[in-house]
Amino acid sequence: MSFKLEKAILVNIEFSSQNQVPSEESLEELERLTDTYGAQVLAKLSQKRPRPDLRYFIGPGKLEELKALKAAHNANLVIFDNELLPSQNRNLEEYLELRVMDRTALILDIFGKHAKSREGKVQVELAQLEYELPRLAGKWTHLHRQRGGIGLREVGEKQIELDKRMIRRKISLLKKDIEKLKRDRHFRREKRKKSHFPLVAIVGYTNSGKSTLLNLLTNAGILTKDKLFATLDPTTRKLNLGMGKAVLLTDTVGFIQKLPHQLVAAFAATLEEVTEADFLLHVVDASHPYFEDQIDAVYNVLEELKCIKKPIITVFNKIDKLGGNINKEILKKYKPAVGISALKNEGITDLVQQLLQQPLVASLTY
Ligand code: GTP
Repeated sequence: MSFKLEKAILVNIEFSSQNQVPSEESLEELERLTDTYGAQVLAKLSQKRPRPDLRYFIGPGKLEELKALKAAHNANLVIFDNELLPSQNRNLEEYLELRVMDRTALILDIFGKHAKSREGKVQVELAQLEYELPRLAGKWTHLHRQRGGIGLREVGEKQIELDKRMIRRKISLLKKDIEKLKRDRHFRREKRKKSHFPLVAIVGYTNSGKSTLLNLLTNAGILTKDKLFATLDPTTRKLNLGMGKAVLLTDTVGFIQKLPHQLVAAFAATLEEVTEADFLLHVVDASHPYFEDQIDAVYNVLEELKCIKKPIITVFNKIDKLGGNINKEILKKYKPAVGISALKNEGITDLVQQLLQQPLVASLTY
């Protein structure tokens, strides 16, 4: 039995001016992220506002509601589904007397725990430090307010300067490290290109079944887990398609709605596999109630990566949960598309047929 020490309340604010994911759907996802992070969700709170409150992000009424919820549930953590300013984060912590995290901090923490390769680890550390830097000041103000005393203020300010300097130095070292790792990656990719097999990147929303599919197709033995972001490092495997034809398949990090911008940059390692790919397999969890929103979220990231024009085969996965069938209209809408179950090994022959029909594969000769 797992015992979760942190007891969290989740908060989502929907701003009327923005065209965004409905709060209910977004909160459901935040709940899964919180579970992956390892905290227990006690309550959820949402609010519609024209714009955030400058001081506390949420309005005074909701702030009181949050305080009452904290007392009622004995919570020790509040997680916001939005991005908070460092000052708002601090003000909330002071007022509520508990730890407050925003969505970016949560995702950074999860990424930190799941990164496996040296490159993945270095990139998360860099993103974490860059997130931390503007938030440092508050840490010492806290101390000053708690303990009082004029001398302490000076000590605090000096300490902030020292901390900032240390973090900046660390950031510049990490950037150098990343440059070197980038060169190594480039070298590996050049070697792979010489193999002449088309490079196919498996993309898709987190938890859609990308790793399960890659495992099934190539026996890669990659970790699959019913947790968000189990995969944070690319893995490339050769898939023989018969008749001397093959493709190189690469798994990539799962996409997600509202992926913090600095993380898209931080995950250049796996996302670069997408930019380098000849075409994409887009794995969709067809059993998810919001799968079309997830498709859009993936398209948004692909657009950001300037990859949206690459040929895409849409793979509707988990059809075992839909009685083994997928709506024909959906297949038509996202053509070329197939329905499969990576878990139950269904529809794989159709998928291989689709791969063989891709011009780059069809034209392979030996
Ligand atoms: P990230 O690493 O988070 O991006 O996830 P992923 O897209 O690589 O998903 P993964 O392969 O780890 O699968 C996520 C969960 O879905 C696991 O619990 C799988 O067992 C389950 N799953 C994958 N494919 C299927 C399927 O065809 N049917 C069903 N029912 N479950 C599946």
